[in-house]
Amino acid sequence: MKLAILGCSQLVTLAGPHRPRAGVEMRGLAIIHDGAMLIEAGRIQHVGKRSEIESLIEKDCTVVDAGNRVVMPGFVDAHTHPIFAGNRADEFEQRASGATYAEIAAAGGGIRSTVRQTRAASEDALLDSTAKYVQWFLRNGTTTIEAKSGYGLAPEQEYKLLRVIGRIKPLRCVPTFLGAHEIPDEFRGRAQEYAAVVINEMLPEVASKKLAEYCDVFCEPGIFGLDESRRILIAARALGLGLRMHADQLSKSGAAELAAELAATTADHLEHTGASGIAALHSAGVQPVLLPGSVYALGSTRYPNARGMIQAGLPVVLATDFNPGSSPTPSIPMVLSLACTQMKMTPAEAITAATINAAWSVGRAHQIGSLEPGKLADFVIHDCTDFRELAYFFGVEPAHAVYIDGNSVL
Ligand code: NIG
Ligand code: FE
Repeated sequence: MKLAILGCSQLVTLAGPHRPRAGVEMRGLAIIHDGAMLIEAGRIQHVGKRSEIESLIEKDCTVVDAGNRVVMPGFVDAHTHPIFAGNRADEFEQRASGATYAEIAAAGGGIRSTVRQTRAASEDALLDSTAKYVQWFLRNGTTTIEAKSGYGLAPEQEYKLLRVIGRIKPLRCVPTFLGAHEIPDEFRGRAQEYAAVVINEMLPEVASKKLAEYCDVFCEPGIFGLDESRRILIAARALGLGLRMHADQLSKSGAAELAAELAATTADHLEHTGASGIAALHSAGVQPVLLPGSVYALGSTRYPNARGMIQAGLPVVLATDFNPGSSPTPSIPMVLSLACTQMKMTPAEAITAATINAAWSVGRAHQIGSLEPGKLADFVIHDCTDFRELAYFFGVEPAHAVYIDGNSVL
């Protein structure tokens, strides 16, 4: 099973130091012009100039001509909520007429409305509805997603969602338990009691059955405050789970500082995080995961301070936050566009943030996120000749062909 990819206008390898890329390192994509790649048994064996690789091709090797297109690692989408029933096009219409996300949520809509629909769906039905979104991710050049539960909010319901995540194919999935996504209807006004169910019942089961690698919390005043979030995340860590947080999304509450205190793997959103939060994340080695799709779709203009974070030396990650409420997009290219136009990241920084830095943030940098010998052959042939076109054009699906483990999946 040997495969050679020739004819890459740019082979965007992202090769570099084995660490998350920070500061000016985020601009170095290690591009090979007129590049080529040799793959064996699903792993990258060689990358180089076409002439070097051509000399290594043996008789039994399948040769694919990329047609003078950009070839690069599959995007790693480090923050998604892809398992849900129904959608919230009705609330989208209400928001277009002036209602806010917070008002709709307080009135019983928002996450809780998706929870009601998702609870009523079987595991197989959810897997079926997710299949459509899996195709959307692939068509946008994504080969790995971090996938959260969080629309079950009851023990068996959350396990059901995590089992669906475990069955997704052919995308690579990193499962995260987000039982603390909202207070479910039956626990309204009793957040502490619900947090106790998360800590005493759900977390031990999730950990012992290995249903998730990470635990996330929606840390926001009125949902899970700092104290509850801390309790939940400390319990998760004691059970061996990695930590992620929805932090400072709708208000500045000290959530970024809490992520730093707990040395979480990531702090996500950070729209309201200021200089002290950024400094705290940096000294604790927490990776920021920025989600401009949710800012855009909520009609806000308050984007996170990406330039401040890069300047402070944080290895920034970009992700879609794909979900039926705040960010109904599976498109990393759309996120690259928003990162460049709204947050003034350069196209190279944005691509680093959605590949190698994202791979570090989901604990997979030894396998994916760059095209280097020994890594898994997860790569995409994009229908463009220059990598900057991926952030420049928007509203298109740029992937021409997608490979996971060296197998053609699109
Ligand atoms: O990351 N803020 C919490 N969770 C999601 C929204 C989920 C939803 O609206 O269904 C987010 O934006
Ligand atoms: Fe989210």
